[in-house]
Amino acid sequence: MARKLVFAVNGERFELAEVDPSTTLLEFLRTQTRFRGPKLGCGEGGCGACVVLLSTYHPVSEQVKEFSISSCLTLLCSINFCSVTTSEGLGNSEDGFHPIHQRFAGFHASQCGFCTPGMCMSLFSALTNADKTSRPEPPGGFSKITKTEAEKAIAGNLCRCTGYRPIVDVCKSFAADVDLEDLGLNTFWKKGNKDATVCRLPCHSHKRICTFPEFLKSEIKSSMDILDNFKNTGLPECQWYRPTSIEELYELLNSDAFLESHVKLVVGNTGSGVYKENDVYDKYIDLKGIPELSVIRRDSGGVSFGAAVTISMAIEVLKQKNESELHSDERLVFSKIADHMDKVATPFIRNMASLGGNLIMAQRSQFASDVATILLAAGSTICLQTASERLVLPLEEFLQRPPCDDRTVLISIHVPFSTSVMESSSGANGCIDSEPTKEADILFETYRAAPRPLGNAIAYVNSAFLAHVTSYNISGDLVIHNIHLAFGAYGSEHAVRARKVENFLVGKPVTACVLLGAIKLLKETIIPNEHTPHSRYRSSLAIAFLFKFFQPLLKDLSVPEKNVQMSVSSAAATIENSNGCISGFADDLPHKALNVKQLDQVNNPDLILSSEQTVEFCKDYHPVGDPIKKTGVELQASGEAIYVDDIPSPKNCLYGAFVNSTRPLAHIKGIKFKSTSSPQKAFTFIGADDIPKGETQRQASMAAKQADVQYCTDNLEPPILSVEDAVRRSSFFKVPPFLCPQKVGDLSKGMAEADHKILSAEVKLGSQYYFYMETQTALAIPDEDNCILVYSSTQCPEMAQDTIAKCLGIPAHNVRVITRRVGGGFGGKGPRSVPVATACALAAFRLRRPVRMYLDRKTDMIMTGGRHPMHINYSVGFKSDGKITALHVDILVNAGITVDVSVIMPQNMVSALKKYNWGALSFDIRLCKTNFSTKSAMRGPGEVQGSFIAESVIEHVASFLSMDANSVRKKNLHTYDSLMLFYEGSAGDAPEYTLPAMIDGLASSASYFDRLEIIRHFNSCNKWRKRGISLVPVVYQVTLRPTPGKVSILTDGSIVVEVGGIEIGQGLWTKVKQMTAFALGQLWGDGSQNLLDRVRIIQADTLSLVQGGFTAGSTTSEASCEAVRLSCNVLVDRLKSLKQSLEDKIGSISWDTLIFQANMQSVNLSERTYWVPEDASISYLNFGAAISEVEVDVLTGATIILRTDLTYDCGQSLNPAVDLGQIEGAFVQGIGFFMCEEYLENSDGLATSGLLFMCYNLPVRNFFSHSEAWTVQIFQKKYLRQSVVGRRMARSQKFCLHLLLLICWAYIGEADYMKYKDPKQPINVRIKDLMDRMTLAEKIGQMTQIEREVASAQVMKNYFIGSVLSGGGSVPRPQASAADWVNMVNEFQKGSLSTRLGIPMIYGIDAVHGHNNRIGAATALEVRATGIPYVFAPCIAVCRDPRWGRCYESYSEDHNIVQQMTEIIPGLQGDVPAKYRKGVPYVSGKEKVAACAKHYVGDGGTHNGINENNTILNRAGLLSIHMPAYLNSIIKGVSTIMVSYSSWNGVKMHANRDLVTGYLKNTLRFRGFVISDWQGIDRITSSPGANYTYSVQAGISAGIDMVMVPYNYSEFINDLTSLVKKNVIPLSRIDDAVGRILRVKFTIGLFENPLADLSLVDQLGKKEHRDLAREAVRKSLVLLKNGKSTNDSFLPLPRKAAKILIAGSHANNLGYQCGGWTIEWQGDSGNITVGTTILDAVRSSIDPSTEVVYSENPDSNIVKGNDFSYAIVVVGEPPYTETAGDNLNLELPDPGPSIIQTVCGTIKCVVIIISGRPVVIEPYVPLVDALVAAWLPGSEGQGLTDVLFGDYGFTGKLSRTWFKSVDQLPMNVGDKHYDPLFPFGFGLTTKPTSGRLSSAAAIVRKQTSWVGSN
Ligand SMILES: Cc1cc2nc3c(=O)[nH]c(=O)nc-3n(C[C@H](O)[C@H](O)[C@H](O)COP(=O)(O)OP(=O)(O)OC[C@H]3O[C@@H](n4cnc5c(N)ncnc54)[C@H](O)[C@@H]3O)c2cc1C
Ligand code: FES
Ligand code: FES
Repeated sequence: MARKLVFAVNGERFELAEVDPSTTLLEFLRTQTRFRGPKLGCGEGGCGACVVLLSTYHPVSEQVKEFSISSCLTLLCSINFCSVTTSEGLGNSEDGFHPIHQRFAGFHASQCGFCTPGMCMSLFSALTNADKTSRPEPPGGFSKITKTEAEKAIAGNLCRCTGYRPIVDVCKSFAADVDLEDLGLNTFWKKGNKDATVCRLPCHSHKRICTFPEFLKSEIKSSMDILDNFKNTGLPECQWYRPTSIEELYELLNSDAFLESHVKLVVGNTGSGVYKENDVYDKYIDLKGIPELSVIRRDSGGVSFGAAVTISMAIEVLKQKNESELHSDERLVFSKIADHMDKVATPFIRNMASLGGNLIMAQRSQFASDVATILLAAGSTICLQTASERLVLPLEEFLQRPPCDDRTVLISIHVPFSTSVMESSSGANGCIDSEPTKEADILFETYRAAPRPLGNAIAYVNSAFLAHVTSYNISGDLVIHNIHLAFGAYGSEHAVRARKVENFLVGKPVTACVLLGAIKLLKETIIPNEHTPHSRYRSSLAIAFLFKFFQPLLKDLSVPEKNVQMSVSSAAATIENSNGCISGFADDLPHKALNVKQLDQVNNPDLILSSEQTVEFCKDYHPVGDPIKKTGVELQASGEAIYVDDIPSPKNCLYGAFVNSTRPLAHIKGIKFKSTSSPQKAFTFIGADDIPKGETQRQASMAAKQADVQYCTDNLEPPILSVEDAVRRSSFFKVPPFLCPQKVGDLSKGMAEADHKILSAEVKLGSQYYFYMETQTALAIPDEDNCILVYSSTQCPEMAQDTIAKCLGIPAHNVRVITRRVGGGFGGKGPRSVPVATACALAAFRLRRPVRMYLDRKTDMIMTGGRHPMHINYSVGFKSDGKITALHVDILVNAGITVDVSVIMPQNMVSALKKYNWGALSFDIRLCKTNFSTKSAMRGPGEVQGSFIAESVIEHVASFLSMDANSVRKKNLHTYDSLMLFYEGSAGDAPEYTLPAMIDGLASSASYFDRLEIIRHFNSCNKWRKRGISLVPVVYQVTLRPTPGKVSILTDGSIVVEVGGIEIGQGLWTKVKQMTAFALGQLWGDGSQNLLDRVRIIQADTLSLVQGGFTAGSTTSEASCEAVRLSCNVLVDRLKSLKQSLEDKIGSISWDTLIFQANMQSVNLSERTYWVPEDASISYLNFGAAISEVEVDVLTGATIILRTDLTYDCGQSLNPAVDLGQIEGAFVQGIGFFMCEEYLENSDGLATSGLLFMCYNLPVRNFFSHSEAWTVQIFQKKYLRQSVVGRRMARSQKFCLHLLLLICWAYIGEADYMKYKDPKQPINVRIKDLMDRMTLAEKIGQMTQIEREVASAQVMKNYFIGSVLSGGGSVPRPQASAADWVNMVNEFQKGSLSTRLGIPMIYGIDAVHGHNNRIGAATALEVRATGIPYVFAPCIAVCRDPRWGRCYESYSEDHNIVQQMTEIIPGLQGDVPAKYRKGVPYVSGKEKVAACAKHYVGDGGTHNGINENNTILNRAGLLSIHMPAYLNSIIKGVSTIMVSYSSWNGVKMHANRDLVTGYLKNTLRFRGFVISDWQGIDRITSSPGANYTYSVQAGISAGIDMVMVPYNYSEFINDLTSLVKKNVIPLSRIDDAVGRILRVKFTIGLFENPLADLSLVDQLGKKEHRDLAREAVRKSLVLLKNGKSTNDSFLPLPRKAAKILIAGSHANNLGYQCGGWTIEWQGDSGNITVGTTILDAVRSSIDPSTEVVYSENPDSNIVKGNDFSYAIVVVGEPPYTETAGDNLNLELPDPGPSIIQTVCGTIKCVVIIISGRPVVIEPYVPLVDALVAAWLPGSEGQGLTDVLFGDYGFTGKLSRTWFKSVDQLPMNVGDKHYDPLFPFGFGLTTKPTSGRLSSAAAIVRKQTSWVGSN
């Protein structure tokens, strides 16, 4: 006889002969039974909506076991002979509701209700099992459950609506040890009236429910084998097998039927929640029937668990062992394992999940298992059965094996006693020199960090450490004998033992030094695989865990944590305490008395969530304002409430599923369906516009997954996948003008008034998924005459109706859309629900069959989008006292692919932003159209972000000014006048502005200031935990919409009401019901008729009540109530006279009589009103405030909320109980947005958070610490603008989401005061603070300088680049203006500022010319005008050989002159104040630049003057000639020093540690940074870059702090990173470099003023600077000859002459005058910049009657054929720089010599040599009448004519020797054989003559100036 599947559901018997073995229990319950209580929320075991109670019965012991399970994962066949209880089974509307249901109703613990049946079942399971214990009987009405257990009962169930507090109250109400007074608002007693007793609660009796029916027990007994016990051997007919031994299992597996089959071994099947199964198996083998796999055995060595033992069972056993006589060490280990397992998944998963299934998933599928990690540390072994053999292996070896095949069976797991495992392998390797003084201790600890702190989320990293330590006499240190360090879940194949670290530690004492060594090794071990999210965080977590483990044992580490105890035996307990729970600091408290309560909360790990709710009730409009329970709430709890998916499927119903595109932008070429091994039911795919369908939802979904879509991207632009892309491609949605918000005030005026400015600060906000518990769903049923009925879970049925009608091409009256209730909306069931309803309707219409769709969670996430992500950039100006004077905000909103309702975003954001008085406010908000999924309104759309931006600005300003953020907030809070200005038309009357009073009230009731003090104290006492507190105000601008309401009174007096709004859990129906009862009850002035129970609100129906609009904006309840009130008023008017006449006749009458009579007299008893708000009151303001205190574990980042106080002025609440629920729910949703919900998208913009528990973590109940305290006050405004009931009432759900902001502010505020951002802190403190926060990558980035060509904001950001430079000639564009430069520099800077720490980069450029202090100052101003704060000047080379191409950059061959010339440094940087510490860089302000003395050292002394060559000189020579100017520079506070390319005695300076680190940094005590030259380190190897890694190593080791890379920065960064990681370069070297770089940046003020503006642009090329340059030219000219004889001076020249000749290559060539480093690196010829050539200067200087003939290279005809009075010949060197300028013969270049000969041979002439150094001139000296050395005079040719014509006298002296011939070189003053043409110091003088031309005659220049790169 065929075996059948027999089980019971709620006492009903089910017998199935044929079952698809892949059917889940949930699927069966929902489609094959009348029970709808279990809901499908996720299908992954992650939400608890599907929880049922499973009961099993043992026929021999007659024991019934009951436990909760997730029915979405449990396979139906696995419950053979079991009994299932759903929430309907506990109680229902027919049999009476269960006390659990009633308490859910009475404590207002259900909003949308979708999670409630699952919650009820989790609680019921907990109560049932508690009541089974042998604990003493509790007082009547209570369960045996404790309050701690009660609170944990719903730990794994998610609720998106309530905020959990009321649900926890329900659970706790069953615990006898709870103080009922502490529970929240409820309908059972009045708060504060002292009547909170259990007898007021629906009575609990655990005997009432029979979960295992007698008939099933009898059936089980009767099917018992005579000899054997009851045997459940499976259902072979259903391909479900249940072998009873391993042999039987292998017989099956080896049988022919199985060989070809796709077989799945299964225990709890919870693995399918992790690895969603697309494939269906042919056969299932249930391993639970094999006794060997379920046995738990204890032997002398430990405990063995059969592989099928559930995690719950293992926990129970491990805890029991704890209670028995185990050794204390074993107890410790076992209890910690159990505690850790308690955090694995949820109770309803653990009840099914087996240990073996977990380990197999870890081994085979790289699952991030906790079980594997903790058992690994415990030294466990496993027993494995393969097809051929049985093996016992260490767990470590098992995990390392190749993934086991599907025929290998895990038999058991053995967890050894820790003492045996530790001692047996104890390995102190001989380095301990004395005997232990006391018995060895076993330490064991486990850790996990997960998005939800207390479990129910896959860990980022988990770890477990088992150590055997002993204390030794001699040192008193603890010594490690043996240690196991296991780590898992961090992104590796499987959990691992950190063997290297273990080996290192064994035998070592526990000291900080040893720990440091261990950490270094650990860093090399814990390296997450590529693409692991948050991989850096994971690596650092592993280290944090190790540190936490050892920290309490360390003697030599200062541990300011006040709770840390040092004794070995207590150490583990202390660690345990610190793991997840907060321990205290009571002894150090200044305000003990005040804080007792708080301390208790903080210290007591068992403290239960406690809360206080303060509500002001208003009785005036009874029952409006009463906190009555929600309408229909018991139905929601029992599971009888009908949601769309609960409507039974009509006959022939098909199920639809979407195939979503996996490409962001593509054409669809075609769609095929993959063949699959699974049996396929027929389905249809109608086309691109349609959907695949199956006969069940599962089949349809599977069919959709088999779709193989072929995409084509031909002729398509790349998709837009960032807002920046959208900006680049001008892809925006237009906002209609009427939705554009208005600016306030005059921004430029506000900015001008500011004392300080923060410019271009960046904030980014991500998305948030709606996560309503009921996913999008619809059911469409075709009707006659082309009509269609659509049940849709939507917030906007009217929009759905309209869209469906258009899509089907039928009139709207053919489409009826019905919505009864929605299982959570939060905006996501607005327009985003319409595609689902429309797709269903389309398919139904086409196929003429009903079609329904219920989206799986992943599809829902992908399709529905979520909250708008955005990039924000703001600039703010403010006074020193914190008053903000102007704010400008630029916002790029990512709206996705379609506009949806995104156009409301600007208005909403600005409205929230206006909550402070910014002085002036302007903004530019763009809605970017991208190829992401459409983003839509989500709870508080735009308002949450606007509020966040406002708080960002406040915090930023506070941190800038080092003020308490709260005082900055207060300073900028609106006065009533400014409120009127910012919220024109909505501000209301002055008394309505209650916010300031609310803030003060809240600060006082929450002891804000006292707590602030306590927190400061806590933070100063605790190193690893920090606390923060923040007070945040909120202003919400409400805008009302027109809404309809219809009230009809039926003949029996019952009342039916329809409203436009939808019941989405917000309590709309309840409030409307209250309003109807109140308004109709007005007929009886005494309120004697209680009409509440007569009112029913019915579902929304688009054909019954038109113009329903949509439910959104938190105003639907208010508007619907008003519409209903007006309808009721009409009815009251109609009934009034009748009532009067009846009363006149028969005395007082009842409602029933009145209605009966009204009917008889044909009074119209139905009224519909369309309420349209009046213009004057359409918009008004609501206020609120909140304080939150949080604690952050700085080692792990774990954050808990310690306490929250919320206050809200809601006018008069229609129902305070409902509103409280909304406030709390919104607050928790906000916690999710800011703290744990991470909306992940892949690189194509597709949502990837498919698995709820793994990837998308909305807050769960235990997200908060045990110690959270939560107070909520609803503050009833005493003043009302209109005394109309229903106005200004209850609109809390959106509003309160803003309050969540305070959490993050507390987080980044107090807890993380960024000292480095505080300019008032000493620089060293700032440096240290910043460096403590920096990662290695951030540090190495700082050491990297790149060329502007390769720089971009993105590169700056991605690589944390510290500096950018312009190489020679590298400009933003040819002839760039100052603005071009400023913009370019700022663009890079913004990239740097957008990094995590916002460290500004420093931009550097060459500024070659300049010789003294004044010139330095002018140069600084001109460079700053282009936005650049750093110059590579001065060059303090001592040029000892003019053949060197850089000689002209050197001031002299004499070091004394070079030393004097270092005066340019104070010019550039500012004068060092008296007593300034020598060696420390100094830059005095925004008009100065950081200087760079170069090139260190000996660059001017290279052999033969060859550039970059070797300086051959003894040390004394080097120090006396080349070094002195460095000392002068350092004394003058030079900021940086550049290393020379050259070598000293063969050693490259870039690798010369002795001179760079030894001499410069250590001896001269230079504290600025050392920078390399351009590719300077590359040239350390003889072939540049031949061994770059070596170059990096040598350069950095030598002491170079910043490397001018300048192009291949990634190679540099990689090489340096790897050298540091390998310890070739110690971190201390990096820290030294970064500290120096940061010092310069802080000194310059870059952190305060990172961005340049154009305020200095008028400095550029200004007249004073040109005059200064001209002065410099004339003073630097050296007159070498004047007249052919001493008494016959040729100069000055007469201005008046008949005719003069100007000749020579350099006479009219500005480029030649300037030389190299001008516009282009090597300089150029011609009119390359603005200036005056010598020819122009002469022309402007001579008398107008003098004829000037200019010939560049005159031939003898010109010379002889004219009667020239005299000639001016200007010749010299062409431009050059560096190596190109090296010149071994130094001859005067052609045609210079021939011009001299031609001209000077005939005419009296002055020859001017334009050169950077002496050249060979001796042969021409006799020919010339006068000879002038002009050292590259630059743009100011008039400097020459000033002296030529005698306006000024010649005064210049040679700063270098003028040689006769090059073979004399090198020859310098003081040399033995000194025989110069003109000696060092030579220079003739002349006297100025009178009558010089006024400078007004100077050439008029172009006013515009442009700037080259130098
Ligand atoms: C919502 C959720 C959250 C979770 N969170 C965590 C967590 O935080 N930490 C953690 O460690 N785990 C977590 N898990 C994983 C959970 O512990 C495992 O799913 C569970 O232990 C698997 O046991 P099972 O009996 O249900 O295995 P099944 O699903 O029945 O099987 C899993 C796999 O193992 C194979 N298998 C099972 N038993 C054996 C055996 N004896 N021999 C050979 N093959 C076998 C099956 O064929 C299947 O391939 C979570 C799971 C879910 C669903
Ligand atoms: S539906 Fe089963 S746990 Fe979510
Ligand atoms: S009431 Fe819990 S999800 Fe809505």
